[in-house]
Amino acid sequence: MKEFKNVFIFDHPLIKHKVAILRDKKTGMKEFRELVEEITTMMTYESMRDVKLVPVQVETPLETVTQYKVPDESIAIVPILRAGLGMVNGVHKVFPTARVGHIGMYRNEETLQPQEYYCKLPEGIENKTVFLVDPMLATGGSACDALAALKKRGCKNIKFMAIIAAPVGVETVASAHPDVPVYVSTLDRQLNENGYILPGLGDAGDRLFGTK
Ligand code: PRP
Ligand code: URA
Repeated sequence: MKEFKNVFIFDHPLIKHKVAILRDKKTGMKEFRELVEEITTMMTYESMRDVKLVPVQVETPLETVTQYKVPDESIAIVPILRAGLGMVNGVHKVFPTARVGHIGMYRNEETLQPQEYYCKLPEGIENKTVFLVDPMLATGGSACDALAALKKRGCKNIKFMAIIAAPVGVETVASAHPDVPVYVSTLDRQLNENGYILPGLGDAGDRLFGTK
């Protein structure tokens, strides 16, 4: 794959461990959901290394000291429906007060083109750091359209997180949105003829929600 300076592929051994279980077709819905959440939390820590902190005064039992915190109300989470919903709690573990917007997209099974069917975003999202989340980055069509929708709404500081990605999806998003950092836990080999990631984990939405 081409190199992009705004693409970060995590190579953390604990993420590898959890992704191995996630891929396994014997892993059931409950464990799958828990793993998606745990991996997302780890990715959130890693992707916030550049966060700007603000100074606050804290009174310890002994004295007052200047400390540094993430500004209140500065984070939003936007899952791409459906499968992105599985990642929301993982970000909420780190930022419990983050507002949540939703963008609904489904891929046309023949053309693989994304269709937007829902968009509801919190007020003031344009001034927040937005985590756009979707466990699967395949052709990149859904992520590109969701990023365009966020930018149309005025969002300037967006981070995109996917658990598993195909090289073509990463290249498509990074080329169309070079300003958006793309965080991927695991880069897979390729897409099959139906647009599924190989080796992948199957249909993330179905495995999260028990549908077929
Ligand atoms: C999956 C996945 C992404 C999209 C990725 O959603 O959750 O949103 O496909 O594919 P792309 O990169 O080729 O656009 P899907 O359309 O299956 O909908 P679902 O989450 O409702 O199952
Ligand atoms: N969406 C999924 O859920 N899985 C894939 O492999 C590709 C797109």
